[in-house]
Amino acid sequence: MSAQPLGPEPLSAEETDFVRVCRVEELPEVGVAAADINGRVVAIVHTGDGSIHAVDDTCSHANVSLSEGELDGCTLECWLHGSRFDVRTGEPSGPPAIVPINVYAVKVEDDEVYVSTTPQNV
Ligand code: FES
Repeated sequence: MSAQPLGPEPLSAEETDFVRVCRVEELPEVGVAAADINGRVVAIVHTGDGSIHAVDDTCSHANVSLSEGELDGCTLECWLHGSRFDVRTGEPSGPPAIVPINVYAVKVEDDEVYVSTTPQNV
């Protein structure tokens, strides 16, 4: 008789709410790409340290695409009024934006990028 495993089996990306978005090489080496994930536009951020983050593409101050802004380290700057958002937390560093943007978990499996459809900071 074999022992029962303790706790749940680890889930693969396909077994959760993660959806495949693209291959890693389809992202800019350092930069931002917009992706439509189930009708929501998400900014996929590839930082200089190689990490990948996913945040809402729409600025929390007005209806402006953050993927058209400037990436500085882990900070994405809105091109319209200059609010800067930490792509790890979604928090703005200062006005005019005062509301965080949604952040989504990212997994990379076999060079495929998967993004959760559930915000992790709400
Ligand atoms: S629209 Fe982004 S800071 Fe105003």
